[in-house]
Amino acid sequence: AAVKALLGALSAVAAAGCGGTQSALDPAGPAAAEVLTLFWWMLGGAILIWALVAGLAVYAIVIDRPRHDPAATRWWVIGGGVVAPTVILTVLLIYGLRLIPPLVRDAPADSLTVEVDGVRWWWRMRYRTPDGPVETANELCLPVGEPVQFLLRSDDVIHSFWIPALGGKMDMIPGRENRLALQADRAGTFRGACAEYCGASHALMNFDVRTLPRAEFEAWLAGQAAPAAAPETALAERGERLFLASGCGACHAVRGTAADGGVGPDLTHIGGRLTIGAGLLPNDEDTLMRWIARCDELKPDVDMPAFDHLSDDELRALAVYLKGLR
Ligand code: CUA
Repeated sequence: AAVKALLGALSAVAAAGCGGTQSALDPAGPAAAEVLTLFWWMLGGAILIWALVAGLAVYAIVIDRPRHDPAATRWWVIGGGVVAPTVILTVLLIYGLRLIPPLVRDAPADSLTVEVDGVRWWWRMRYRTPDGPVETANELCLPVGEPVQFLLRSDDVIHSFWIPALGGKMDMIPGRENRLALQADRAGTFRGACAEYCGASHALMNFDVRTLPRAEFEAWLAGQAAPAAAPETALAERGERLFLASGCGACHAVRGTAADGGVGPDLTHIGGRLTIGAGLLPNDEDTLMRWIARCDELKPDVDMPAFDHLSDDELRALAVYLKGLR
């Protein structure tokens, strides 16, 4: 009861400090729930061993040393220092090993498959559909209640794909394809992160995850597959002309226009995303202007050049154009 009360108190403290969309303590899928249960068992085992060792140290100093009986001491060392930790650690090991197969098992062959590339410092997401790949960036939408197969790769250095609320994580290693199956059990908005140090902007390499009912997910995917809508206002039209004239299309694709670069994130539907800069900043016109003008100040070592030679009017037109790409 005491251990349970302690775990409850720790859980309350942890939940207060680590709640929100990026919490492994608030699972939204079976894999994350299993990992959380394992975490509590490991923590309980660690506390048990710590209490045992601390108790023995106190016993040794206060009772055993004054009495000075080597035969009794030997049994305490063997029992408390060797046997008890071995038993506790073996139980935890067996429990932990039993969890590995379900956590690394592939999703059924007909499951939704998403290829995710880690790139310094953003995420290329490519949905496999019967009509061909559908590319987006820095945001995943997933259907609720079904397993999704992720194929994880890297363009440059080792990254790691982690959505704490859904489970994982799994390294993304150049030249390899790692596999991870995840399932979301409820609709919501969560956050994923790169969990392997990969350079100056490692901490700024995040992504949004929206889990949607199947019908809403299908509508979203169909929207992503469609080419960009034509600009609706004169300002947005000016923005499109500037986008193409400034060479943005050399790195970014906006499907349906002449912009077909594949180096940077696909911007065909950037206006509908929750954030920009890989989970860095809210997706609004002012922030888009800041990002285009001085993205090097917002994200160290980013490949995209600063466009601070553009006037505020030009930056506004570009931002309005991009925000309109939904
Ligand atoms: Cu990518 Cu850390």
